[in-house]
Amino acid sequence: MNRLTVIMVMLAGGMFVSNAQAIQPGKTVTWETPMGKVVFDGKNHMDAGVKCLECHSKIFKMKKGSTVMKMADITAGKYCGKCHNGTRAFSVKDPDNCNICHSKK
Ligand code: HEC
Ligand code: HEC
Ligand code: HEC
Repeated sequence: MNRLTVIMVMLAGGMFVSNAQAIQPGKTVTWETPMGKVVFDGKNHMDAGVKCLECHSKIFKMKKGSTVMKMADITAGKYCGKCHNGTRAFSVKDPDNCNICHSKK
């Protein structure tokens, strides 16, 4: 192995380690609500180009189940509402959008 190969293997290894912990492909967080389940999908957010640091740990701790949020807080621009405000991402205030997060299942 030449030096470049070693560096590339190290880089690939590092990426694997951080991927294994990330909320992304296949990883989801679910909240039960009276309006139905809300499923947060890490992959959708990675694909949309959202960086880990935008959410961690300013908005969410890296621990499932640590966030207690009310819809009113979200509508007021906290938690998911920090981005889901109609500017960065679809608005939580639009009644047509409720079911994008709240599934009927
Ligand atoms: C759009 C916001 C957002 C982004 C971007 C995001 N996460 Fe998260 N992450 C969350 C939420 C929400 C939770 C669950 C928090 C809760 O339940 O209170 C979470 C939970 C986690 C957890 C804990 C999982 C567990 O089983 O306890 C880890 C680890 C984590 N994220 C790592 C990452 C990494 C690494 C990245 C970047 C690749 C990332 N997250 C990007 C929102 C995000
Ligand atoms: C960006 C995703 C998202 C959208 C869009 C959204 N919600 Fe929510 N909603 C949540 C999350 C997350 C929770 C909190 C779950 C928890 O912490 O238990 C929640 C909780 C709720 C609750 C439970 C009671 C409460 O006050 O927390 C109700 C009712 C609710 N939402 C109604 C709505 C309605 C009506 C709309 C559309 C106008 C809407 N939601 C749009 C994510 C969303
Ligand atoms: C740091 C910004 C940010 C935060 C915080 C955030 N999102 Fe998003 N979300 C985005 C962006 C950007 C998109 C993609 C653009 C769009 O769909 O409008 C997206 C897309 C989504 C989608 C649509 C995925 C699809 O393609 O079907 C859902 C559902 C969603 N977010 C739920 C949530 C929930 C639930 C939370 C809170 C737990 C949350 N988001 C917090 C930025 C964020």
